[in-house]
Amino acid sequence: MNQVLVSAPSNIALIKYMGKIEGTGNKPTNGSLSYTLENLKTFVRLTEIAGSEDQWKPLVRDDLEKIELSEKGQQRFLKHLQNLKQKWGINQSFLVESANNFPSDCGLASSASSFAALTLAAAEMFQKLHPQPWGADKKVLSELSRQGSGSSCRSLFSPWALWQAEYAEPMSIPQTHLHHIVVVVEDSKKEVSSSEAHKLVTTSPRFTGRPERAELRLKDLVQALCWNDWHMARQIVWDEFMDMHRLFETSVPAFSYMTSGSKKVLEDCQGFWSKWQDGPLVTMDAGANVHMLFRNDQKKSFETYREHFKKDFKVLAFEGVKDNVH
Ligand code: DP6
Repeated sequence: MNQVLVSAPSNIALIKYMGKIEGTGNKPTNGSLSYTLENLKTFVRLTEIAGSEDQWKPLVRDDLEKIELSEKGQQRFLKHLQNLKQKWGINQSFLVESANNFPSDCGLASSASSFAALTLAAAEMFQKLHPQPWGADKKVLSELSRQGSGSSCRSLFSPWALWQAEYAEPMSIPQTHLHHIVVVVEDSKKEVSSSEAHKLVTTSPRFTGRPERAELRLKDLVQALCWNDWHMARQIVWDEFMDMHRLFETSVPAFSYMTSGSKKVLEDCQGFWSKWQDGPLVTMDAGANVHMLFRNDQKKSFETYREHFKKDFKVLAFEGVKDNVH
């Protein structure tokens, strides 16, 4: 039986992909920078099957969480497989099974890890069936993954990925093995998908100048991180997600992902920062959850935040463990 099983991680953008150039297969209006979340993964199993139709099913495994994909979600996923088949010149049909290693009811189910995992699984399978000279080139795979879902193109590189136009590339930044907290504020399905948000933000008067603002922050953030200026990095990352959320709130029609819970978490983060003059990089995606990234040497502070937010919210916390070097 022809079968492959592959996983890919999610990622959190510190400079956001928000706004795309219509009709270009998810080419962004500005560059973005992300940190790869190795603990949040999607697994995809691809099996060659008889017949002329590809199929999707949840991957059932004791250690993984079952995914529920809407009919629309399944169609989008299988369309991506179809595009990949076309690129490799593959005619066979496949069963795609997928699952996450994180709970699907926590509003984290990002398309990034799923589309990256499907791209990698297809590449592995198709290179066996019909090898292509570019078939193992990660830049090519990143570009293909982007066409399925933009943010997924960054999930092929770790720990940092920079995506400027066609594909993402690894970025060398001194901070690695960051500790990660997600304060799960809202776990219901969001009303506006990120794909819809990309379209709506272009109606905001604040979208004028947005690509320039993001590009400037990207440059400043890379410099701050490379110079170990964590204070500066934190300020840039904060301004960036607030800028994105203001775009949502000034779109026509306006929409918002911020809940009273998100605002409370953000206020507490501000309070802690003022008190200790140090803390995590804080960011939010197109959702109500709040992500925090701590330097590896901030383990104590990571534990303090985790215990603090656990009192009122569901918290996912992942330690950035450094491998033992022998
Ligand atoms: C807010 O990659 O989900 O998470 O390309 O339409 O699939 P599509 O959009 P998607 O957008 C992610 C937006 C974001 C910011 C980011 O990850 O950079």
